[in-house]
Amino acid sequence: MFQFAGVAAVAAIGGAAWMYRGWHRSAGLAGGPFSHYPFDPVAIENFQQKLFIPAASGPFGVLDVVGPLKIRATAASFPILPARESPFLLYQTENAGKAYQNPILRIESGARFSVSLDNALAEPTIIHWHGLHTPAGMDGHPANTIPPGNRFEYDFTVRNRGGTYWYHTHAHGLTAKQAYNGLASFFLVEDDDQRRLSKALDLQLGVTDLPLVIQDKRFDAQGKLLYRPNAQESMMGWLGDIILANLTPNAVQAVSPRTYRFRLLNGSNARIYRIAFVKENTPLDFTVIGTDGGLIERPETVTEAFLAPGERLDVLFDAGQVPPGMDIFLKSLAFDPMENEGSAGGMGSMVGMAGMDHSMGQPTAVLDSSRLPLGLGFNLMKLSVIAGERVVAKPPETLSKISPIRTEGATERKMELSMGMMRFLINGRSFNMNEIAFDVARGAVEIWSIGNPKLGMPHPMHMHGFSFQVIERLNSPSQVSSAARFGKGRTVSDLGWKDTVLVWPGETVRIAIDFAHDFPGSQTYLFHCHNLEHEDAGMMINFRVRA
Ligand code: C2O
Ligand code: CU
Ligand code: CU
Repeated sequence: MFQFAGVAAVAAIGGAAWMYRGWHRSAGLAGGPFSHYPFDPVAIENFQQKLFIPAASGPFGVLDVVGPLKIRATAASFPILPARESPFLLYQTENAGKAYQNPILRIESGARFSVSLDNALAEPTIIHWHGLHTPAGMDGHPANTIPPGNRFEYDFTVRNRGGTYWYHTHAHGLTAKQAYNGLASFFLVEDDDQRRLSKALDLQLGVTDLPLVIQDKRFDAQGKLLYRPNAQESMMGWLGDIILANLTPNAVQAVSPRTYRFRLLNGSNARIYRIAFVKENTPLDFTVIGTDGGLIERPETVTEAFLAPGERLDVLFDAGQVPPGMDIFLKSLAFDPMENEGSAGGMGSMVGMAGMDHSMGQPTAVLDSSRLPLGLGFNLMKLSVIAGERVVAKPPETLSKISPIRTEGATERKMELSMGMMRFLINGRSFNMNEIAFDVARGAVEIWSIGNPKLGMPHPMHMHGFSFQVIERLNSPSQVSSAARFGKGRTVSDLGWKDTVLVWPGETVRIAIDFAHDFPGSQTYLFHCHNLEHEDAGMMINFRVRA
């Protein structure tokens, strides 16, 4: 049974001793790997709730887009923890007589997408189509945020290739809070490559092809979503301590001895996951088939991959590689979070104060910091392998064709991440709605060198409007370089078409972008950190692609 009341006492025994390579955050007081709390994802015995799987309507129902849609952003309530209702924000729509909340939109590449957004919230909002190549006016830039009671009309052609994209609020200054409270879902684009793969592996969306959004949340004593960042959390990013897979805490899913496709989306505000499928203590093979912008060229078999906020990873997992009756855990392996790496003062200096001003033993104290430090290993979901016919199927050797962007003569541009005045900056700037950081010529190919200082923290950097290719990682920390099997320091998460790339402290990541488009006139897009607290705090710039 679920109760928060006893947590503080347990925490007092095991809590304060926990440290992960120094004092990164104030999680130690109430949390740590030795103190269990309800829904603690470290404790495997907690994994009892059946994974929520999207159906053909209802919450996260799969909606095949064929005509215009009307979406309403509204406040509602949603049972996340068992038998508890939580206030929740969601997108409501109806289609062909069926009602949907946060629908998984599925649409054919090349189709027209026409949708109106009605803001039925008590605060401003706007939808951004993450990863889609749209005219700037359709992108859901925060400048287009609409007040309560207003409507925004979107109408554009889906130009992207098949893949796992998503949509979420981009309300100016409110993105983190609104996305955390529910305003996000998948946007799946279909094409021939996708169909060929589904056919070869006999995959069916919602059965053997499972969209899986991973999020970390905190709840108050009533089981309601809690979002109340203190100064330190506003600066570093908000971490939850209950891990949700498709909004299910401690999820379990029965799987037959066959291959499944999991479309992993990190929909967390700030948490990075180091994904692995683990049997007892052994990471098993899984096969990456796609990243942010659709399928990669060839299936790549690995045992782990980082997944940062905003990123997607399409993977195949053969549940028949272990005997029926066994449990496999989809995990986040432990890693060095590299927050405040090597620094004595800086970000770390606030930690003590933020952690200490709540007396131990008060039930509320545990809610004032995450009990799950960044970098701690824990479980995301349990897969229970059931008996059945063993089905072995191989993915096509070639999944799709990806032409490398030709970078001869490309303009090189430096994107220096830094910190000043307790906020993170891009090239020394904090977001200003009316400022264009720089112009890019339409059709130009550029190489952006994104540099993160050694004393910083990891930042998942995201570009609107265009997908890019990661061409090189330099000076990577060992937990990245040890998995860099793909040339030029790249890991499996860097392959294919990307819109979000994780840049670790000390690293420089070089990306290539082709700014060709056929939209009329100049187009202004965003480049920002997808740690949503960083984004809202202004780690974001406008750039303009000149006509
Ligand atoms: Cu998914 Cu501007 O973000
Ligand atoms: Cu985006
Ligand atoms: Cu950041």
